[in-house]
Amino acid sequence: MSARHFLSLMDFTADELLGVIRRGIELKDLRSRGVLFEPLKNRVLGMIFEKSSTRTRLSFEAGMIQLGGQAIFLSPRDTQLGRGEPISDSAIVMSRMLDAVMIRTHHHSILTEFAAHSRVPVINGLSDESHPCQLLADMQTYLEHRGSIQGKTVAWIGDGYNMCNSYIEAAQQFDFQLRIACPEGYEPDPRFLALAGERVQIVRDPKQAVAGAHLVTTDVWTSMGQEEETARRLAHFAPYQVTRELLDLAAPDALFMHCLPAHRGEEISQDLLDDPRSVAWDQAENRLHAQKALLEFLVEPAYHHA
Ligand code: CP
Ligand code: NVA
Repeated sequence: MSARHFLSLMDFTADELLGVIRRGIELKDLRSRGVLFEPLKNRVLGMIFEKSSTRTRLSFEAGMIQLGGQAIFLSPRDTQLGRGEPISDSAIVMSRMLDAVMIRTHHHSILTEFAAHSRVPVINGLSDESHPCQLLADMQTYLEHRGSIQGKTVAWIGDGYNMCNSYIEAAQQFDFQLRIACPEGYEPDPRFLALAGERVQIVRDPKQAVAGAHLVTTDVWTSMGQEEETARRLAHFAPYQVTRELLDLAAPDALFMHCLPAHRGEEISQDLLDDPRSVAWDQAENRLHAQKALLEFLVEPAYHHA
């Protein structure tokens, strides 16, 4: 199939990623000036959610509407996917009716299998492996607040899971150094680390990771699907809470980001999102703008009149 997909940051070139992010800033400006921009009129995005979502669902759905199109929310519970219809058959059928498909899944292999049989672009809306759409928003947010992230140092504190894997890919694509502080047994996927080489360093001490960093970021300690490990995780991650005092060790102009949802008192202190160094709300808003740019890039423009 010839459609371009966005299953990982590595599916795009570095220039393409930067282009999407810059376009996100332009689309944000158009919206703030009340300019109507509907290149995706009559285009339809299908959104398959195997897990809960606030930001991803809203940003894709609102984004499609703002671009002149529509989005359809599909829960596996209400479709034949939940009753065992093969992914490949579903991909063939859905992609004959839709113009793009976004999938949030427990198993990344569902995304790759769907994409292999889809005529239209498939977008990763979070898997057990990665969350590339979140990184578009994060990188847009850094660019808006501080300019280029190239050559800077980013500290990842906490679980080496899907978000961390995407930061490892971002380090390669956006050319920054990444220091990951995680407890033993919670390291990121070795396949991601192997590709990143010297650009990524794993340390155990959060202070060491944060020292002089330009961006500090974290994620929940218990991700969706890991709920039964919560008690064990709370114990292992306790020394990894991001606090104002920890941020004080970073560069004077450091920013703090969190993909949200946040658990105050766990991965961040109660007051961290109120700290002036936190840009988490801008980051959440930028999901909308960055993904509109992504949709504009991936989806064919409007039909011609007959
Ligand atoms: N950050 C993020 O993807 O949020 P949701 O789970 O609310 O979509
Ligand atoms: N790591 C989190 C990210 C949520 C946006 C999860 O997978 O639940």
